[in-house]
Amino acid sequence: MPLFNFPIRVALPVRFATMVVALGCLAVFSNAHADTSAARGASVFQQNCSACHQAQGQGLPGAFPPLQGHAVDMYKITDGRRYLTHVLLYGLNGKIEVAGQPYNGAMPPWAGTLSHQQIADVLNYVLTAWGNKASLPADFKPYTVKEIAAQAKAKQNGDDVYALREKLSGTKSKSVAGSGAGAADRAAHMKLDVPLHTAVPAPVYVALQNSNDIGVLPTKSTWQGANSAHYVALSADGSMLMASGLKTGAVYVFNTATGKLRGSIHLDDVVQGVKIAPNGKLGIAIGAKHGVAVVIDLRRVKIVKKIPVGKTPHNARFSADGKTAYVTLQGAGAIAVLDMNTLTKVKDIATPGLAAPHNLDLSDNGKRMWIRDFTGHVGVLNLVDGKMLKVIKVGNGHGGIDVIPGGRYVATGAIADHIVSIIDQKSMKVVKNIDVGNGPHGVRASANGRWLYASMTVDNNIAVINMHTLKLAGQIPAPGKFPFWLAVKGND
Ligand code: HEC
Repeated sequence: MPLFNFPIRVALPVRFATMVVALGCLAVFSNAHADTSAARGASVFQQNCSACHQAQGQGLPGAFPPLQGHAVDMYKITDGRRYLTHVLLYGLNGKIEVAGQPYNGAMPPWAGTLSHQQIADVLNYVLTAWGNKASLPADFKPYTVKEIAAQAKAKQNGDDVYALREKLSGTKSKSVAGSGAGAADRAAHMKLDVPLHTAVPAPVYVALQNSNDIGVLPTKSTWQGANSAHYVALSADGSMLMASGLKTGAVYVFNTATGKLRGSIHLDDVVQGVKIAPNGKLGIAIGAKHGVAVVIDLRRVKIVKKIPVGKTPHNARFSADGKTAYVTLQGAGAIAVLDMNTLTKVKDIATPGLAAPHNLDLSDNGKRMWIRDFTGHVGVLNLVDGKMLKVIKVGNGHGGIDVIPGGRYVATGAIADHIVSIIDQKSMKVVKNIDVGNGPHGVRASANGRWLYASMTVDNNIAVINMHTLKLAGQIPAPGKFPFWLAVKGND
């Protein structure tokens, strides 16, 4: 059953022949413009959207809604033109229904990742590709960069866009928290079933992207100064925290004892993952746009070197001795290996079966790499011979990954899903998918491996999993919005 009642559009009566000619000319002009914009949008789509919405915009039933045969329907609802700009800029979180299929994922926000021009281009592409053009209103004018820039001032988030969608579509589906399988279970567990200090024995630092803060558990205090906080990393001794700013292109360095910013650097890049070397002297920040690993002197908060690493790098991990750094190349289907003495790239290791390696961690002996991709898989790479041992299906979308101290399990989040998957390291099989709520992205265990924390981007809390029972112990409300990533003392 269709979800929306579209306002009926009255076709414009054709008036004078001269008018028609004039309009015809205009149409040629605007179509030419649309074609170039849409043509550019095709590559924006292939690189950023097709992993979820699929190459032909056909979607994946139950996981990612189709855009083919559907995007124009959304355009045609009252205020749909503006709605689509908000979905792209700010994302969408909440339970929706498309062509009778429920979806309860999270569409990531793109403001800061894609330029306003790229957002206009990809919308023009999505609305005209795969036969969608045929149902577009005849008076459709392509989105312009100006229009996107104007909407970018609205400062919304995925929850606000969901509220807008609900309002415009005139339906009243239930709130996210109360829907979906396991909701009753989750509601019952909203409170932790153990004391907070038991579940959080050492500080957990949370990047609160939409509040521009770092949140600290168990105290629930917040630190200011990390605008659009994205990834965070802690030094081995816990004294220093490094954070990236998604929209600012900056790297921030905090003193964890005082919660004060020690310094920041602007990288003129889209800054993704950050990591601190075991000796605490150097950090790496990934510049995704320019394909570099930026090495930073943490004491002086200065750039030491920008190492070219490859296409669309995402996150980094040091070997235990700090001599090597590994970088996921989301755009190349490979892991770049860096020599941290010479600060150069040594080689790439291909990741067959994982098209877009996203986040990574190492086994305790450093011989295996556990890689989370962008679309719901974990790959196990043997670093001794460079062979991919196994690719494992996990929850939808991308997420963090953690080799849990103790050597038994690996955990991974799934931002477009409700589950944290627990994988047995030996058998390389998922032993449990734990229903944690909506939008789990970052995952990190306590240093003793007893508790696992997941940052819930949609529900705005930190889910805590008891690693003895492999059950949800409850959720701690996040002290801000869009908890994206977390760092834990003793296990970074
Ligand atoms: C990580 C997966 C993922 C990626 C990447 C992604 N999307 Fe989405 N998208 C989703 C999910 C999931 C939803 C539905 C969200 C929900 O259930 O609330 C969605 C919803 C949408 C919608 C709204 C549909 C509606 O019915 O309201 C549009 C439009 C859209 N995406 C376009 C895009 C475009 C264009 C891109 C690339 C720039 C993109 N998406 C990238 C997962 C993704």
